[in-house]
Parts: sequence; structure tokens; C-alpha cells
Amino acid sequence: MSLSRKASEAGSRGQSDWREKLEERSRVHATDSCHDWGHVSRVRKLALQIGAAENADLEVLEAAALLHDMAYSKDRANHERLGAALAETELARAGFPATKIRSVAHVIRNHRFSKTPSEPLSLEAKILQDSDRLDAMGAVGIARCFIWTGQHGRHGLREGVDHFHEKLLKLKEGMNTRSARSLAQDRHQTMLGFLAQLEREEK
Ligand code: NI
Repeated sequence: MSLSRKASEAGSRGQSDWREKLEERSRVHATDSCHDWGHVSRVRKLALQIGAAENADLEVLEAAALLHDMAYSKDRANHERLGAALAETELARAGFPATKIRSVAHVIRNHRFSKTPSEPLSLEAKILQDSDRLDAMGAVGIARCFIWTGQHGRHGLREGVDHFHEKLLKLKEGMNTRSARSLAQDRHQTMLGFLAQLEREEK
């Protein structure tokens, strides 16, 4: 085997290494029922799909998707800032390319759509926002909505439905990228269909 082939195999092993390590860390931290490993892995898939279409840095996106909610259970109100700080340590430990660590932290710090960012967003940050928003829409969004409202002391069917009007039906308008806007259409229709059917069944 040639030296260069050995080097490239070692390189690809190194790459999958950081993925496995970050996955492992992410699973440990994903203890909230709405922000569990299922959410993290769906956001990762969406981010990679949108990122490929938008020519983004997929390594930065994947690492950020894996770690974006790692501080959620510790400090929900500030989980984006705490998460970004913790991620820098995790990334270095996992052997993630050092030159990209700050870009990942930027993405995590700015992933929340309910907070106005204080710095200009990178393409990757816009894509992670979109992916996180998409996971709050469609069939998954409907299921997560009722888990979330139940968790926050709003236990009835009506309270869940109110949350659609307060937030979920507005998400379609806030997408940053073209690819996400087109994915959002379908999910938005699914939510409208659900609400219409609910109304029929409740009459
Ligand atoms: Ni999230």
C-alpha cells in the first residue's frame, strides 16, 4: 500500500472518529423529550441535505447539528450560549479540525429562532436555524408540539392548538434558504391539514 493511500485512510478514519465521538456526547446530553437524540439526528439529516444544496461547509454543519442542543437540559434559557462554549471543548477533544471550531460555535450560538442574533450569520448558521425550524413543523412538529406544551404545564388539546397559532404556523415565513423554504411548504400544509381535520372531528 502506498504511503499516500495510507495517509488518506488514516485521514478518513480520523474524520469518522470525531463524528462518533460527538454522536456519543450528544446522546448523553439529549435527555429532554422534545430535544432528544431523535431531534438531533433529524436536524443533522436536514442540515446535511440543505447544506449540500446550498454549498455549505458540511463538516461545520454536521458538528453544529450534533451539539446544538447539548446544553438544553442544563440551562434551557441560555442553552445556545452555554452550548457554544461547551462545544469548543468537545470539538477539540474529539479531534475536530481546529480551524473550524469557531465556525461551529458561531452556528450553535445563533441557532435559536426566538432570539435575534447579535452578529451577522454565516451560511451554516442560517441553515441550522432552518433545519431546527423544519423539525418543529410537519408530522414531527405536531407530535413535538403536544409534548412541549404538556411539559410546560399546558396540558389540554386546546393549549397545544394555540401553540400552532402562536408559533408553528409562522415558521414557514422565517426560512433563510431557498431549499428550506421549499421543504417548509409541505410541512406547513401537513399542519394545516391536521388542524382542519381536528376541527371536523371536534364539531
Ligand atoms: Ni434543536
